Amino acid sequence: MATQRWEVGILGATGMVGQQLVRRLEGHPWFRLAWVAASERSEGRTYGEIPWLLGGSVPEFARDLRVERPIAGRAPQLLFSALDAEAATRYEHAFAAAGHIVVSNARTHRLEGDVPLLIPEVNPDHLALLAAQRAGRPWRGAIVTNPNCSTVFLALVLAACRRFAPSRVLVTTFQAASGAGHPGVPSWDLLGNVVPFIDGEEEKIETETKKILGTCGDGGVAPAPMAISAQAARVPVLEGHTEAISMGFDAPPSEADLVSALRGFSNLPAGIVLPSAPKAPIIHLPERDRPQPRLDANRADGMAVCVGRVRACPVLDFKLVALGHNTIRGAAGAAILNAELLAVRGWLSEGAPSWS
Ligand SMILES: NC(=O)c1ccc[n+]([C@@H]2O[C@H](COP(=O)([O-])OP(=O)(O)OC[C@H]3O[C@@H](n4cnc5c(N)ncnc54)[C@H](OP(=O)(O)O)[C@@H]3O)[C@@H](O)[C@H]2O)c1
Repeated sequence: MATQRWEVGILGATGMVGQQLVRRLEGHPWFRLAWVAASERSEGRTYGEIPWLLGGSVPEFARDLRVERPIAGRAPQLLFSALDAEAATRYEHAFAAAGHIVVSNARTHRLEGDVPLLIPEVNPDHLALLAAQRAGRPWRGAIVTNPNCSTVFLALVLAACRRFAPSRVLVTTFQAASGAGHPGVPSWDLLGNVVPFIDGEEEKIETETKKILGTCGDGGVAPAPMAISAQAARVPVLEGHTEAISMGFDAPPSEADLVSALRGFSNLPAGIVLPSAPKAPIIHLPERDRPQPRLDANRADGMAVCVGRVRACPVLDFKLVALGHNTIRGAAGAAILNAELLAVRGWLSEGAPSWS
């Protein structure tokens, strides 16, 4: 357990993911939010003056923080980035160069060879890339990323099945409106409709999953040798991405063994306790019509992936339905969990301003 506590900041604090970060940092045992930044559209306003997009109201502790411009060097060492990809391209390297540890939700740096694309229960060993990052880049800081909001649920399911050697995967996603940020997809395009295209999403699911499940060595990460085919659709759901997944295995299990592997999965390194980690990262629902976004996306405080409808597949070996909360386990909660792993692994202690 970490004994120190750290001040943190948020880049892109005013968007969907930024607000979810603020909400989840309220009362966090290790991190205290001290700094928020966004674009010039929001600069100078207090956080309480920003339109609150989530349920309830702006958390009281954040109300008086003033939204700043993202200027590197003036913020806490640990920063969560919820910038859109274009702004992340402009700012994240600059902040790492100035000594900040940037824990990012953006796609911008996820596939760079020396940048960990991290899920603590799946590939905590990929944090070793940070040594190469520090050695090869002109900076004292670091960049760590969390996966795309559909990738993370698929990667957790496949990680639970590792011992059966998954080698062929078909996944079709049904993605919530909140996944497109705010204001996102126009209501005219989405209500009463299904949009069978999300720019770049299928490629992200296919490539990021293989990096996450890949083997970390001296030369970086060797992608997992599996074939993944993804199709992504936007559906008129507010929160929660659903995925229909079919898997072919090189060592196919029985259905009972597959369910037991999913239920029993909890792969945090021995002795590591992280405040945001769910007791079980995968929740198996035996009912024949679950999981459903409205009923199940918030289970385990939004940090678990729910799976159901596990059954034989006449084309590959097995199929199932998975569901996760896209702005929590798919973004803000995932980033906070990653920062917690950085804390226990000692990446935040050096020169970090702390409070007690
Ligand atoms: N939504 C999801 O489910 C989800 C899941 C996983 C990952 N992500 C990723 O997380 C990031 C944030 O997503 P989101 O849905 O929260 O997007 P969003 O609602 O559009 O928010 C974007 C944020 O970036 C800020 N920003 C934009 N341009 C800027 C600039 N030039 N300088 C400084 N700040 C700037 C915005 O500030 P203003 O309010 O001042 O414009 C806002 O705070 C994206 O990279 C996205 O791909 C999102």
